Amino acid sequence: MRSLSTTLLFLAALSSTYAGFTEQGQPCTQANNRLQIGTYQFWSECVTTNFCSDKGICEPRKCRRDDFPFGYAQDSDSIPDKCDRGQFCPDEGSECQALLPVGSPCQMNRDDQCEAPPNFKELADTSGRGLNVNGSVCLQNVCMWANATLNNPCVVDNNAFIAYEVDDEFIHIVSRGNCVAGLYCDAAQKVCLNEKALGESCTADKECQSWNCLESGVCGTPAAEPQHFGIWVYIVVALGIFGGMLGTLIGLFAFHRKRRDADREKRLQYWKEQNAFHQNLKNVREAARVSVLSMNDRSNRSTLYSREDAPMIQPTAQKASGLRNFMARDDGSDIDERKPHEGNRF
Ligand SMILES: *[C@@H]1O[C@H](CO)[C@@H](O)[C@H](O)[C@H]1NC(C)=O
Ligand SMILES: *[C@@H]1O[C@H](CO)[C@@H](O)[C@H](O)[C@H]1NC(C)=O
Repeated sequence: MRSLSTTLLFLAALSSTYAGFTEQGQPCTQANNRLQIGTYQFWSECVTTNFCSDKGICEPRKCRRDDFPFGYAQDSDSIPDKCDRGQFCPDEGSECQALLPVGSPCQMNRDDQCEAPPNFKELADTSGRGLNVNGSVCLQNVCMWANATLNNPCVVDNNAFIAYEVDDEFIHIVSRGNCVAGLYCDAAQKVCLNEKALGESCTADKECQSWNCLESGVCGTPAAEPQHFGIWVYIVVALGIFGGMLGTLIGLFAFHRKRRDADREKRLQYWKEQNAFHQNLKNVREAARVSVLSMNDRSNRSTLYSREDAPMIQPTAQKASGLRNFMARDDGSDIDERKPHEGNRF
């Protein structure tokens, strides 16, 4: 039944476009005013912003019921006013009229056209189901008070609406009565009976307190009631969220650890290569110096020493950083052992 009310709303909105085409000032026939089949939407020959006046001419509407009346631009200056309290605007929108006393003819489902009973505070429907307006109800086009009590005779008004499903249409019967709140008017016996609680058998929505007679023939929870989930659903969802987060973290960590190890291996390799290269270079220089020294006289050595050997030792001493020592050890080479050896030599 939930989709039904939506469908009916949609239907009502759709059918509003089915107004006449006669423009303002053009002749019309009041006798052609009617309620649309299936939706009971008011229809006249005039366009939606007009009504067919007593003179038989389409004239601009003089009142409205809706906050946002159909057919007008939102900022239009020609939107008519709503009626004051104690008045109503008929379906035609012709003009505001005083509320009608009990027993007067009213328009279909326009409970708001009827005058309230003296005890309207007791009779008014507060369930939000629209059973009456201020204790008054318009049934079979007559204003009544919703004051029929338990097991007493009542008036019932059944109307068949056409409702639509995805690719089907069906009849939806709306049954209204003049029983007091908490009772419904049984269509067969025409007496007021108590509304039924959840799980009791039913044949129509109106019989249920919840206003929802399930297809299985028992009163179900109200169609508008929000769905509630057990606490375990929240726990499962929370576990899922945290499990997902944790899994992602661990997965990324494992993935990046492989990459990190590979990178470290590469850097180490690079350092080893650089170190080996550096070592080779030193060896070459050493070899060159040794050969130069051996070529020279012992008397020439002092000149050679002051000119070439001194600047060469200087950078070696500065470069002896911890990093290089570490790498040297890692390499298994003996860079640092050379220093004392060099010193010994001279
Ligand atoms: C209900 O009817 C009483 C009596 O006529 C009136 O004073 C009151 O304003 C009405 N309430 C509403 C909400 O129409
Ligand atoms: C109930 O409402 C009707 C009009 O619908 C009225 O004639 C009758 O007097 C009311 N009965 C009581 C007890 O108020």
